[in-house]
Amino acid sequence: MKKGFILWFTGLSGSGKSTLSKLIEERLLERGIPVEILDGDEVRTNLSKGLGFSKEDRDINIRRIGYVANLLARNGVCAITAAISPYHAVRDEVRASVDGRAGFVETYCECSIEKLTARDVKGLYKKALAGEIKNFTGVSDPYEAPLNPECVVHTGDEPAEQSCARILKTLEMLGYIPAVVGDDYGALEEKAVAERLRDLGYLG
Ligand SMILES: Nc1ncnc2c1ncn2[C@@H]1O[C@H](COP(=O)(O)OP(=O)(O)OP(=O)(O)O)[C@@H](O)[C@H]1O
Ligand SMILES: [Mg+2]
Repeated sequence: MKKGFILWFTGLSGSGKSTLSKLIEERLLERGIPVEILDGDEVRTNLSKGLGFSKEDRDINIRRIGYVANLLARNGVCAITAAISPYHAVRDEVRASVDGRAGFVETYCECSIEKLTARDVKGLYKKALAGEIKNFTGVSDPYEAPLNPECVVHTGDEPAEQSCARILKTLEMLGYIPAVVGDDYGALEEKAVAERLRDLGYLG
């Protein structure tokens, strides 16, 4: 059995976590890799129903997502999580708790507030900036960007397909998914992925 892993997205609302989760899911299923997505919105309607957006509740939500993702990953599944997960400490707690049989690939969806406000997918930024939503991450609540994520995608500056390709390349280089012959990922980007992983101590 191929080693399972958690593909942990983090990023502000509208930064592309759900979009990229679905794209990656499609690509992995094509390669015969079992996938489960734990999306923030969906988790909050079942697993974490009743939790709010205080720091304490957000941390509980992330711990629960991490717990379930870990159960899946240690059984060879790719567990993709797509919650904002704004705080360093609890993300690192989940990383530290990952079973030895699985991997953890933190992926930061980076996008400026200006661009997020302009695309305002759910119409939430307008409301948050008008003071109508309290505890809105990035506007009236903190977001702590990861310091050493395995992968960074700049979703305000590149099409989703390109972000998706960089994530797949990262997963390939980490050995979690088999490389596909003939994938059209640019040599320069490939070098950038390799450099990041080498800096993090992954590659020899
Ligand atoms: N490179 C990219 N990657 C992902 N999404 C992109 C990219 N470029 C543009 N987009 C667009 O950005 C939007 C991202 O919205 P999405 O719902 O995926 O965000 P989210 O991070 O899941 O937000 P939330 O935390 O509110 O659920 C979509 O409309 C998508 O088409
Ligand atoms: Mg989403």
